[in-house]
Amino acid sequence: TSEGLAAPVVRLERDGRTAVVTIDRPKALNALSPEVLDALADVLAELAAEPGGLAGVLLVGAGGRAFVAGADISAMAELTPDEGAQTAEHGHAVAAAIEALPLPVIACVDGYALGGGLELALACDFIYATEASHFGQPEVHLGLIPGFGGTVRLPRVVGPALAKELIYTGRQLDVEEAARVGLVTRRFDDREALLAGARETVELIGRNAATAVGLAKRVLVGAAGTPTATATLLEIEGFRDAFRTEDMREGVAAFLEKRDPDFTGR
Ligand code: CAA
Repeated sequence: TSEGLAAPVVRLERDGRTAVVTIDRPKALNALSPEVLDALADVLAELAAEPGGLAGVLLVGAGGRAFVAGADISAMAELTPDEGAQTAEHGHAVAAAIEALPLPVIACVDGYALGGGLELALACDFIYATEASHFGQPEVHLGLIPGFGGTVRLPRVVGPALAKELIYTGRQLDVEEAARVGLVTRRFDDREALLAGARETVELIGRNAATAVGLAKRVLVGAAGTPTATATLLEIEGFRDAFRTEDMREGVAAFLEKRDPDFTGR
């Protein structure tokens, strides 16, 4: 995902039905430079074009200290207001690409998930984390506000009052508090256990109809923040689309015939 001799800043590995996307800029705590955002967009486009039997994606940060410590602060120092807005659009486009992918994406956090790093994790379907993890939106310390979706997605996950407290203070949550408030859905002792746990979840998801999982994600993402009546229509459309799939015919037939389903993803 990067040209020439420079090491790629984002790596994609496929391991069976799991794809692992690694942000690999550990010296800058995996900060999201424009180059990293472009590389993430490329990898997400590749996954969307070639889902090839995948059941899920793990998003991880290299180096063991950080998932992602935010947008790249040094890349923002000299930006004009319009260029700042373009940076926000760049991050939002990556978040939207994660949400548009018809595969579950698990943010695997081991270390800092701050600013744009937390926002990237929030664009994933859910967050697993090690005990060494910390979460926060510290943008106000820099005279900034969240720019990659923090004001949009954080309140949906933790509620508006806590989101405001976190965004106004910039304070960090440890993993215990993050789990208590629903930001982290599972905690692990260390990185190895985290990745093994996330792979197990992908394996559980992979036993189901990939068509149904993709439709469920489409409806859940589409419904977020929309009024009940609109969300209800999205669900009805998704339910209709499930009836178009071979997987739905197979899943229902298998239940009625008291046998295991043989899903094909069609
Ligand atoms: N951008 C660029 N470089 C970063 C970075 C970032 N967000 N976060 C860390 N780094 C770099 C540091 O500059 C340092 O580089 P050098 O070794 O070249 O000096 C290296 O990563 C290691 O960081 P520290 O020496 O600071 O490590 P530490 O253990 O003392 O502190 C930390 C760790 C608390 C995470 C601290 O690095 C920190 O506060 N980072 C910034 C966090 C932040 O403010 N994130 C929000 C960014 S703005 C944003 O994200 C806007 C948005 O919503 C889109």
